[in-house]
Amino acid sequence: MDNGFRDIFCRETAIAGIILIVLIAAILFAAPLFTGGKSTERVTPPSERVMQGLPVRQPVHPPVTVLTNGPVVTLPAPDHQTNSSLDYALEHRGSTRAYMNDSISLSNLSLILWSAQGITDPVSGKRTAPTTMHSYPLTLYVAVSNVSELNPGVYIYIPKTHALSQYLNTTGRDQILSALGRRQVMSAPVTIIVSGNFNAFKERMSSTDDVPRYISLEAGHVVQNILLMETSRGMAGVPFTDFNATAVDVQLSLNGNNHVVYAVTAGYPADL
Ligand SMILES: Cc1cc2nc3c(=O)[nH]c(=O)nc-3n(C[C@H](O)[C@H](O)[C@H](O)COP(=O)(O)O)c2cc1C
Repeated sequence: MDNGFRDIFCRETAIAGIILIVLIAAILFAAPLFTGGKSTERVTPPSERVMQGLPVRQPVHPPVTVLTNGPVVTLPAPDHQTNSSLDYALEHRGSTRAYMNDSISLSNLSLILWSAQGITDPVSGKRTAPTTMHSYPLTLYVAVSNVSELNPGVYIYIPKTHALSQYLNTTGRDQILSALGRRQVMSAPVTIIVSGNFNAFKERMSSTDDVPRYISLEAGHVVQNILLMETSRGMAGVPFTDFNATAVDVQLSLNGNNHVVYAVTAGYPADL
């Protein structure tokens, strides 16, 4: 090959290479303009994946040590006061996000949990809050920071025996409070996390589309009961949902059909 021909060949190849690179860059740049700047792949939200029986991708978090045989604390029987007024509680309930350092007594925690899911009729098993088709799909996780006569940690409320079963130690509690990520939960003596079993009445419903709605409604009843009971005993709290529910699910080792839906604090308001 003579030098002149080789020079021309090299120049043509270089030009063709540059054109190819420019074309690829133009395609990569222009593609998002045709898709509205978003990926065309539809990301299925975790709740929908649960309903479809698909695995839910979990974020990476430190491992949780669940106490399989944690201590069980029987709560004192609810101390009902005849002078406590529903009208007063309704009028004075208000979301409170700052609390005094005062501990909550075990007797007041007993009342709060009873108001949430306490059994009112041992024969039928009916509870203080209404439920869809007697299914009682909710579980209360009680993150305890400052309750007299109760070790800090996370407990599960057992309505049938009106007892608390310790589920996580203080490290687990700290991880949950951090996953909830709200300033108000850091200073609250107690934070109650409400989870729902999305499978509890699935078979008995014509459409599974309604399950999340029913679970949310039940959680709303429960949390309102808690807030009214707190107010009637001089306490207050805030209901909240602005947390990463998947992260809290992981910290509570919830999987499959159980998912956190709502949370509420309890304490003595700092501004009183
Ligand atoms: C479903 C629901 C979710 C809520 N989520 C949050 C929340 O994530 N963070 C928060 O600070 N308050 C939350 N709140 C509390 C509202 O901000 C509060 O109820 C509202 O401002 C009215 O004030 P009040 O509760 O004092 O009457 C929530 C309330 C409801 C009913």
